[in-house]
Amino acid sequence: MTILVTGGSGVLGHALAKTFPEADRPSRRELDLTDEHSIRAYIAAHRPSAIVHTAALTDIGKCEADRGAAWRTNVDGTEHLLREALAVAPDCFFVYISTAGVFRGDTGNYDEESRPDPVNYYGATKFRAEQVVRKHSASCVIRTNFVRRGRWPHPQAFSDRFGTFLYDTGAAKGIREVFDAHMRGIVHVCGDQKLSLFEVARRTDPDVKPVTMEGYLGPPLTADMSLITRRWHPYSLAD
Ligand SMILES: NC(=O)c1ccc[n+]([C@@H]2O[C@H](COP(=O)([O-])OP(=O)(O)OC[C@H]3O[C@@H](n4cnc5c(N)ncnc54)[C@H](OP(=O)(O)O)[C@@H]3O)[C@@H](O)[C@H]2O)c1
Repeated sequence: MTILVTGGSGVLGHALAKTFPEADRPSRRELDLTDEHSIRAYIAAHRPSAIVHTAALTDIGKCEADRGAAWRTNVDGTEHLLREALAVAPDCFFVYISTAGVFRGDTGNYDEESRPDPVNYYGATKFRAEQVVRKHSASCVIRTNFVRRGRWPHPQAFSDRFGTFLYDTGAAKGIREVFDAHMRGIVHVCGDQKLSLFEVARRTDPDVKPVTMEGYLGPPLTADMSLITRRWHPYSLAD
């Protein structure tokens, strides 16, 4: 099996290098999602039989500021990648990494059957790409929510923004297990505990200060991103 992992230079991509050591992980220079010719040439040369597609524009503010770039990368890029992959391998197993940010975030505890209703453009592009991918029967949409393992990088963290967070390493472990089980449809790879970002941050930085979203002025954020799963099993934040 020839496995392609996109977004190899990203936070999750680095973690996936450990759980998919056999995979190809092209740089953006080798495979640019916004360039159809680049995608076609890469796929024709490497002919993957499975793809774990993590590459995306992930910055919520940048997605709002340049909606065209967000759509071209996250939606068109996914569509072109899938199309080219199926042209060389019609049974290609396509795993799309999506986010809890496809949900509204008012109730939390979203399962695989819950109805997406994104509050920002990033979430909208991720949801649209999910729909593109799901037209292919040999596909799996994995929704997850993770933070980079290591010391919390900011002086503050929201005490009223919640999720069932994993570290990047735990998400990469779950993605590999779902991949190996050949799961299709939607699967949530999530933590077993609903925590605020402040609670997560405090585990690696005891001096981090709590802030609330009340004073936040940026694009709308998903306030309660907690996921549950009815199709898989949750993971521990320690994973
Ligand atoms: N972070 C989270 O909390 C979270 C939660 C749930 C789901 N996700 C999803 O998980 C995936 C990975 O997230 P992440 O946090 O690891 O992202 P990240 O650190 O921002 O990395 C994004 C990756 O996408 C690549 N990329 C961006 N535009 C590209 C293009 N035009 N062509 C090719 N590659 C391109 C980047 O390459 P360069 O290095 O060249 O820029 C980088 O490797 C995303 O699909 C995201 O939506 C993230």
